[in-house]
Formats: sequence, C-alpha cells, structure tokens
Amino acid sequence: MAVGAFSGGRLAGFARLISDGTSDGYVQDVVVHPEFRRQGIGGRLVRYAVAEGRKAGLDWIGIVGVPGSEGFYRGLGLTERPGHTLWNAEVDFHADRSDAMPDTKEYHFANSPEVCSESIDLTLQAGRIASVHFNGGCPGSLAAVAVLVRGKRPAEAAELLSGICCGEKSTSCPDQLAQMLKKIITENPELSR
Ligand SMILES: CC(C)(COP(=O)(O)OP(=O)(O)OC[C@H]1O[C@@H](n2cnc3c(N)ncnc32)[C@H](O)[C@@H]1OP(=O)(O)O)[C@@H](O)C(=O)NCCC(=O)NCCS
Repeated sequence: MAVGAFSGGRLAGFARLISDGTSDGYVQDVVVHPEFRRQGIGGRLVRYAVAEGRKAGLDWIGIVGVPGSEGFYRGLGLTERPGHTLWNAEVDFHADRSDAMPDTKEYHFANSPEVCSESIDLTLQAGRIASVHFNGGCPGSLAAVAVLVRGKRPAEAAELLSGICCGEKSTSCPDQLAQMLKKIITENPELSR
C-alpha cells in the first residue's frame, strides 16, 4: 500500500507498507519533501500505514530506520528490538550453485530459427525431466508438452517427440526438445537408458 501526503497537488510526503497480506509487514520509503518537514507529515504517514496494516490483520509490522531517524520513530512511540541485526543480502547466490540439489542439472538450448520458440530451459533431477520451459512460441501447447514430458526419462521423451514437424517445416518445437534431449544424452551416456 502506498500513502501520499499532498499539498496543492504536489506530493509532499510518501510512505509504503509492504506485506505478505497475512501476518507480517514492513513500512518503507518514508520520506517528506524538505520544504514540508517538521510539520507532522512524516509522523502521520507512518501512523496511517501502520494503522492500515493492523486493520488488514498484520500482527508484526517493522521499520528499518536509517541512521539519524531514531528520534523520529521513537517520538512516534515505536520501540527498538535489542539484539536484532539488519542483514544485507548482497551475496550473488546465482554464482554459487552449492545450494542446488546435488543431482540436479540445468540445460539451455537455442532452437532452430525455423520454429516459433527461441530456446528451451530444461532441468533434470535424478536422471528424469523435472521441468521444461519453452521461451517463446505458442504458450498453451508448449506448456502442455512440458507437462506431458515431466517425470519421463530423457531417452523416452526424445523418442516420443523426435521427428514431429510443424506444417511444412522440417522440425517443430517438440522436435527441438527431442534434439536437445538427444544432445544431452550424447554428452551424458548414462542417460541413454
Ligand atoms: C524522517 C522524516 C520522514 C521525518 O518527516 P517529518 O514530516 O519532518 O516528521 P514529523 O514532522 O512528523 O516529525 C515528528 C517528530 O519527529 C522528530 N523528528 C523528525 N525529524 C527528525 C530528525 N531529523 N531528527 C530528530 N528528530 C526528528 C521530532 O520530534 C518531530 O517533532 P517536532 O518537529 O515537534 O520536534 C523526514 O525528515 C525525511 O524525509 N527524511 C529523509 C528521509 C528519511 O530519512 N526517511 C526515514 C527513512 S527510515
């Protein structure tokens, strides 16, 4: 929820409440234009956002205050949480795959320009197809293909889809998936069964 304070059509102050819609919320981005400070606007914005959160059933509402804002929040009756630390999650978890499931492998395949979808993302788990996502193409039909191959062994899915053509074309999106699977099997012969 966003809360604005206006003066003659100008935005004088802003705050927002973000929440999971159930129990927890955070008031963020509390700011009052320098021209309008010390007139009670910041306090009203925070009180309104918190009151609306309570009305929506949130029983925990927190605010991360920047250094220097302590007097402002204390003056509103908010209390600090001793021992709590703000942690910045600036770690690039994408670069660290050690959290991935050990038997999970992810693949990306660029499709032939003959077909409508541009590429395919595929995940194998324990030697079986865990997920397939076609980037582009006919969303409904390709979602159906993805659902139908889920749980199958790569060799089984490749055999089912191989050679399917789209109209006059020599290939199709499902056939591209079959070609992708065959390439994966060639690189991982243990998947050929
Ligand atoms: C912090 C901020 C939102 C306060 O807005 P505001 O409209 O000036 O606040 P209010 O007028 O409602 O202030 C209420 C009371 O808070 C206290 N207060 C406000 N700003 C304060 C400051 N910079 N230092 C100490 N106390 C402050 C005062 O007790 C004030 O009452 P008073 O004016 O009667 O002394 C505003 O200064 C601002 O936008 N700062 C830059 C952005 C920022 O730091 N936002 C907080 C993000 S966590």
